[in-house]
Parts: sequence; C-alpha cells; structure tokens
Amino acid sequence: MTDQPQIPEGEIPVKPTSASRTTLSHIMTGNDTNLLGTVHGGVIMKLVDDAAGAVAGRHSGGPAVTASMDEMVFLEPVRVGDLVHVRAQVNWTGRSSMEVGVRVMAERWNESTPAQQVGSAYLVFAAVDEDGKPRRVPQVAPETERDKRRYQEAQIRRTHRLARRRAIKELREQRAAEGIDD
Ligand SMILES: CC(C)(COP(=O)(O)OP(=O)(O)OC[C@H]1O[C@@H](n2cnc3c(N)ncnc32)[C@H](O)[C@@H]1OP(=O)(O)O)[C@@H](O)C(=O)NCCC(=O)NCCS
Repeated sequence: MTDQPQIPEGEIPVKPTSASRTTLSHIMTGNDTNLLGTVHGGVIMKLVDDAAGAVAGRHSGGPAVTASMDEMVFLEPVRVGDLVHVRAQVNWTGRSSMEVGVRVMAERWNESTPAQQVGSAYLVFAAVDEDGKPRRVPQVAPETERDKRRYQEAQIRRTHRLARRRAIKELREQRAAEGIDD
C-alpha cells in the first residue's frame, strides 16, 4: 500500500539524481562466504538489489519491484571483515521504469588504503501501484557531467534490452508457427 499521490496524466514531475542517491554499508562476516572462504557473489547481489530498491523507492515515491538485473560484474574478491559500500543512483527513467546503476566498493579490514571498486551492476525497477500494476515515475534530472553520461549510457542499454527481448520473442513465435515444440 502507498499513500503517495498518483501522478496525473500529462504532468511529469522531475527529480534530481541526488534526491535519491544512496549508499548501503555492510561488514562481511563468516556467514557470507563460499567454499573458497571469500564472500559469495549472491550475498553481494542481495546488497546490490537492496540498495537499488531503496533508491527506486525513494525516486518513485512508493513501491518498486526489480524487473531485471544485468551486467553484474565482480572485479575483485571480497573477504570476511571487509566493509562493503554499495552506492546506487537512478541513471535513467522511462514511463514507469527506472535504471539504477550500482557500484560496489570494499574497504579492506586490514589495510588503510582507500576503498577499492569490487563490482558493479545495472538494474531496472518498475514502480507499481497497490495492485502491482506499473505506475508513472518522476523523470530524473541528471545534474553532473557524470550523471549525464550515465543517462546516455542507460539509454543505449535500454535500446539493446528492448531489441533483444523483441528478437527472442519473434524467434520463439516463428518456431511455434513452424510447429517446432521444444
Ligand atoms: C516488472 C513488472 C511490474 C512489469 O509489468 P508488465 O505488466 O510487464 O508492464 P510493462 O510491460 O508495462 O512494463 C513496465 C515497465 O517496465 C519495463 N520492463 C518490464 N520488464 C522489463 C525487463 N525484463 N527488463 C527491462 N525493463 C522491463 C518496461 O519496459 C516498462 O518500462 P516503461 O514504462 O518505462 O516504458 C512485472 O513483470 C512484475 O511484477 N514482475 C515481477 C517483479 C518482481 O517480483 N521482482 C522481484 C521481487 S521485487
């Protein structure tokens, strides 16, 4: 349930990127490890989804669900004791969807060096109403040159996502029409 006012048709409010940008920090423990003793990728993905979800909720002013997660990259292993910072911001907005970019940084527990980037990901969230149906979102206003670059790159990813989905759907329809049952 949300008591946020619905956005009337024709009115598209704008919110700056900084209004919803956030960082989630977490110390890794022995419960987070894989068989190698480093942190399990799924633990990092959960933090990424949590941080991105918080940003999507803040930007859209209500509930938002993960529609897709792509380009999750793990650059360096994370270890027990490391302090992980997950930074997320809205890169781009459509009608009801938002692309959230996430950067994962780790401060090594035993080194006094600056936090190192250990991963990144792009997630698409759809803002939904009480019935789980997509609802309109405020448009994001990129503020810095970096925000503007991220907006443009997100548009490229959006175009590719839509083209890939369309091409796969067409292929499946074509095979079904040919009577191929897999
Ligand atoms: C995401 C969801 C709301 C989309 O609903 P839908 O009926 O397909 O609605 P639409 O096709 O209108 O899509 C809504 C928006 O999401 C985008 N979207 C939907 N699926 C997407 C995908 N797989 N990848 C990227 N974007 C996607 C659409 O492009 C559209 O964006 P726009 O309004 O900005 O143009 C619905 O599929 C859903 O509820 N999925 C389950 C979500 C979930 O449970 N997540 C995990 C737990 S949080």
